[in-house]
Amino acid sequence: MAVLTIIEESRTIRDEREIRQHLASTGIEYEHWDLAPQIDQNSDADAILSAYAERIERVKHQGGYRKVDVINVNSSTPGLDAMLSKFSTEHWHDEDEVRFTVHGRGLYHVHPQNGPVMALEVEPGDMIRVPRGTLHWFDLCGEREIKAIRFFQDPAGWTPYYTESELEKQFEPVCFGQSHLPPEKVTAIPWPGVK
Ligand SMILES: [Fe+2]
Repeated sequence: MAVLTIIEESRTIRDEREIRQHLASTGIEYEHWDLAPQIDQNSDADAILSAYAERIERVKHQGGYRKVDVINVNSSTPGLDAMLSKFSTEHWHDEDEVRFTVHGRGLYHVHPQNGPVMALEVEPGDMIRVPRGTLHWFDLCGEREIKAIRFFQDPAGWTPYYTESELEKQFEPVCFGQSHLPPEKVTAIPWPGVK
């Protein structure tokens, strides 16, 4: 399950409905899907797309997405650091950023127009739609691996446009998933570097 942190307020939300409501107030859609039981960490892209075919079609239909693929990276992926560096500074796209995490974890920082920066840690089962034009950046969690279904209106449009604000330097890309720390400790951890 995702973990949403409103950093400025040192507030962490772990309840699915609350996360959905809070994100919706900034235009971001969030759902948690049941994981397909036949899929494990070794499943390939075809198996993943087939296992989630019905839900993929629903999302494609709702959002007008025409192409779907599976991104699969881990610490042994050649050029991983260069790949990650494209997305770990504040940017936006002409396309929605729509991701369903199948395996691994990642950390979105979202900088909404109408509120403070939020950190959303995504885990398997988490589906997120960051609308086009939303300022955000992305990091992997400590295990440095993620496998996720991606939806595109037009993959050619999914280019990062950088704000060059350097805002991301004020936020530590630290994941606090339930597998790492109990909730009572999570809220006690300060966020270094936050102004
Ligand atoms: Fe992005």
